[in-house]
Amino acid sequence: MFAICRIRRFVMLAIVSICCLSPVATHAEVPSGPLAIGRDASAEDIGRWDIDIGPDGAGLPAGDGTAKQGKPMYAAKCTRCHGPRGRKDRDKLAGLSGTTQRKTIGTYWPYATTLFDYIRRAMPPSEPGSLTDDEVYALTAYILNLNSIIGTNKKMNARTLPEVHMPGRDRFVPDNRRGGPEVR
Ligand code: HEC
Repeated sequence: MFAICRIRRFVMLAIVSICCLSPVATHAEVPSGPLAIGRDASAEDIGRWDIDIGPDGAGLPAGDGTAKQGKPMYAAKCTRCHGPRGRKDRDKLAGLSGTTQRKTIGTYWPYATTLFDYIRRAMPPSEPGSLTDDEVYALTAYILNLNSIIGTNKKMNARTLPEVHMPGRDRFVPDNRRGGPEVR
């Protein structure tokens, strides 16, 4: 009985020491800095987050797509929430005329490049970041086409997308207010 207890104690001690020592043994990189936690972000870590596209198209990747190619992708992955032609009420992507007060891509978005950024970053909401760059170009082209801004065969890529003139572009004015009595 005594021997069994000693063996049990030995096994317990062995398990505890393995559990306590293993993090030190496996993580050679000891955190530095004032809090001594975490590690510096690698270029790869930053690259995964650094995906913003400028209004002038800065940051657009290689690849391309047309509305024709985007149509079946949209039917498979977007129709459920946005309706077959982007007109489903809550999250309308298209279908409003230029004079309406409602904001949608065709009436309000000043830059077509934002569409690429938004879709790549956020859609579909259940799998953001899952679309390839070609798919995002094609879906962007399809939504622009639903808004009657480009034709079905117009190829969208890093050169042509920034050239698209959005109907909403000229509805914005520079905010040059300086406060005080000048506030309009
Ligand atoms: C599960 C439902 C769902 C699916 C599927 C979905 N969306 Fe969305 N989408 C939304 C919602 C909700 C919003 C509004 C998000 C917000 O305002 O924060 C939105 C917003 C958008 C917008 C911005 C609209 C605006 O005027 O602000 C675009 C563009 C868009 N989605 C494109 C797509 C594309 C392309 C797909 C397919 C790849 C897709 N969505 C799939 C729910 C969905």
